[in-house]
Amino acid sequence: MLKMAIVGLGMGGSYGPVLQKSETAEFTAICDINRERLEARLKSYKDEIGAEPKGYLSVSEMIKKEGRLDGVIIGTPSGFHHETAVELANAGINILVDKPLDISMENIAKIKTAVEKNKVLCGTIYPSRCNPIMSGVKHAIEKGLIGKLLICDARLKWFRGQEYYDKGGWRGTWKIDGGASLMNNGAHPMDLLCWFAGRAKTVVGEFAVISHKIETEDWTSAIIQFESGARSTISTTTSAFPKTDSTWIEIHGTEGSIYLKDGKVVSSTVENLETICPPPFANPVEDFIDAVAKKRRPMIDIPEASKSVELITAVYQSSREGKRIVLN
Ligand SMILES: NC(=O)c1ccc[n+]([C@@H]2O[C@H](COP(=O)([O-])OP(=O)(O)OC[C@H]3O[C@@H](n4cnc5c(N)ncnc54)[C@H](O)[C@@H]3O)[C@@H](O)[C@H]2O)c1
Repeated sequence: MLKMAIVGLGMGGSYGPVLQKSETAEFTAICDINRERLEARLKSYKDEIGAEPKGYLSVSEMIKKEGRLDGVIIGTPSGFHHETAVELANAGINILVDKPLDISMENIAKIKTAVEKNKVLCGTIYPSRCNPIMSGVKHAIEKGLIGKLLICDARLKWFRGQEYYDKGGWRGTWKIDGGASLMNNGAHPMDLLCWFAGRAKTVVGEFAVISHKIETEDWTSAIIQFESGARSTISTTTSAFPKTDSTWIEIHGTEGSIYLKDGKVVSSTVENLETICPPPFANPVEDFIDAVAKKRRPMIDIPEASKSVELITAVYQSSREGKRIVLN
């Protein structure tokens, strides 16, 4: 059995049941620097899923005491991902990092160097890629079922109250969240755009803080051209009161269109999107376990996960510098 652990027990804690259910992996350990959170998770895992992983207050202690770990899921705040990832990779442990891989290309480069040096695997969690509709859309684009891809637009209209940003002390900060409505919440649709349309080539963007007391942004808008030739307009906000949390993706090709809202099809010229290309795994954690067992590349590896971070940081750079950014 593969020995698997989780570090960072907010959203990270929600992956415990997947590890516990796995027939290939053993849910071995959990780690959080917050003692209260660690103890609450230890109790809820025992009561709710019958799991009894060992609990640790630091990654170093977990690595030392566990001896062998085959894979660790990283759910620490986004701008800390590289620190934990590098420590684990240097200990020879495969890693699965929650989205975004990190908040800058510089931090991602640190992860990449450690992963390559230690020959470990690194995957990223973007659950939408395991939505059968999204894999159907990817298939439709690749197989030319909507002709040549021309436009791939995304709008994220969410609401988050001030208390959301005040909680945890890292959201809405440049240093650790690396942005907000785009880098954090918008990470999901941005990853899908890059999956569908490829790497961004040019970006013109704007961001602003329009309704919260935060340092980064709660509104962004951008125009993107991809290397594939596809074009995109995006807008994200966490200021859409009252709480609507709607995400639209609209795709147009020379021979068809697909309209999606909240991961479901609104209308499409391609039939049976949900069944034309089922994803191989129900979620990225299952994919990671399989990748570690078979020593193969995880579904969303470093180059894949980098595309959306590169795009997002270019939107911020464009707004700050007041110019169009051409990606290298
Ligand atoms: N895949 C998704 O849909 C999804 C959803 C929400 C959040 N996330 C991502 O998960 C990450 C965490 O977000 P969250 O909402 O769970 O935040 P959170 O603040 O609720 O949880 C983060 C946890 O990490 C712990 N932590 C911080 N530094 C640590 C360290 N060095 N070692 C061990 N534990 C440490 C904190 O004590 C905290 O309990 C972010 O990168 C976020 O983007 C992904």
